[in-house]
Amino acid sequence: MIVRNVEPDDIYTVIDLEYQNFEYPYPPEIINFLFESYRDTFLVVEKDMDIIGFVIGIIQKKEGHILVIAIRDDYKRRGIGTILMKKLIEVYQKKGITKLKLEVRISNVAAISMYKNLGFKITNRLKHYYENGEDGLLLRRDKI
Ligand SMILES: CC(C)(COP(=O)(O)OP(=O)(O)OC[C@H]1O[C@@H](n2cnc3c(N)ncnc32)[C@H](O)[C@@H]1OP(=O)(O)O)[C@@H](O)C(=O)NCCC(=O)NCCS
Repeated sequence: MIVRNVEPDDIYTVIDLEYQNFEYPYPPEIINFLFESYRDTFLVVEKDMDIIGFVIGIIQKKEGHILVIAIRDDYKRRGIGTILMKKLIEVYQKKGITKLKLEVRISNVAAISMYKNLGFKITNRLKHYYENGEDGLLLRRDKI
């Protein structure tokens, strides 16, 4: 298993994983835009020539903003999401970016738990943040 930067041939599988994992997925054109604009902070996990997970971060005002992470169902809960997040944090650190933020649905206990284990703290509740009216949580991580 390797974690590496996204390549053009990965995009189809990334879009597929996005649709498998989210009720309101980022549309392909947004994924393509993120690929074109933020390739350094767009990482994939490759196993046996297959893409089994990805994470997309961007940089806004010298702050890292993690937009999405997803792991293929049959590889969930094996520590791969954590490995991917740690690798992305390392990429940000190499760019001198130590402040990170992300939003997550309040119902997403798996992701919230993973983020907390990685040192993220809940800083705000975002009322009706999502399309279906669900609240979000804003999480931040300020340390190196
Ligand atoms: C969230 C997600 C990326 C986690 O990836 P993963 O590889 O399964 O996570 P890990 O195996 O690294 O788990 C890390 C920690 O997260 C928590 N966690 C992960 N899955 C969990 C679950 N189903 N229930 C409760 N906690 C869970 C646990 O605290 C776990 O640590 P532990 O296994 O030592 O208890 C994955 O579940 C996923 O793809 N979810 C769908 C997409 C999504 O919701 N993305 C996040 C919002 S952008």
